Amino acid sequence: CTINTDEFYKVVLELTKSCGQLIKERTSSRTKKIEIKSSAIDFVTETDQEVEQLLVEGLTEAFPTHKFIGEESVSSGAQCLLTDAPTWIIDPVDGTMNFVHSFPHSCISIALFINKLPYIGIIYNPMLNQLFTARKGMGAYLNEEKITVSGTKNLADSLIMMEFGTSRDPERRKVILENQHKLIPQVHGLRALGSAALNMAMVACGAAEAYFEFGIHIWDIAAGELIITEAGGVVIDPAGGEIDRLSRRVLAASSQEVADQLAKELSQFYPERD
Ligand code: IPD
Repeated sequence: CTINTDEFYKVVLELTKSCGQLIKERTSSRTKKIEIKSSAIDFVTETDQEVEQLLVEGLTEAFPTHKFIGEESVSSGAQCLLTDAPTWIIDPVDGTMNFVHSFPHSCISIALFINKLPYIGIIYNPMLNQLFTARKGMGAYLNEEKITVSGTKNLADSLIMMEFGTSRDPERRKVILENQHKLIPQVHGLRALGSAALNMAMVACGAAEAYFEFGIHIWDIAAGELIITEAGGVVIDPAGGEIDRLSRRVLAASSQEVADQLAKELSQFYPERD
């Protein structure tokens, strides 16, 4: 049977928009309260925590049986468990380092999974007023205008998004540099927005051809996956083959061809699973 997500979508959209205003108001403040998480360059701010709490409270009030995987709840000890139950997967501020520096590329990334599959995906950058949305089978949108991937089929014609990540692990750094070294002479260019979700949004709207990263978590990519696939792109494992959402690895592309060509070039890194 088909699942009607109208009410879920209406409620989450309102909550996301109002939490986005909070992020926007706070972004230029020079006195953000910052704590360190998994490494000296992995931060959480009071805004991350407050936004996650507001989203979880608002959704729980509307849908008391729904489950959650939230970045900040998991880092304070909650389990990262994806079951068949309707589950909201939340990154309250993706691009926290950008937010800390008032670099205007941070967003709320929120997705609803049911039976372990994405039904709703929202990525909202309130600083630049970019609202990316998708619902299963209903297409992808930027500020209510339909978006599609660029359709590029050659890696050589591609703009590639990649990241430096929030870890200083030397092995991971080596792989990142190897991949930059290999790709620079083969593609149009490399970019890093500092937010996994916004990198994926760029692929979805045709502004970039691919994005890959080792070390992300499910909350960084959950909304982006649906927005990209609804826009006509693909999301796979960086070595090729099906995405494993808890493996902390992702490759998203404007076409299967670009995805396969990129996967073949990449040096691989396998972080510890979530
Ligand atoms: C991070 C950002 C960053 C990516 C990291 C993520 P956060 O998310 O998406 O671009 O490189 O892997 O952890 O911590 O800002 O929510």
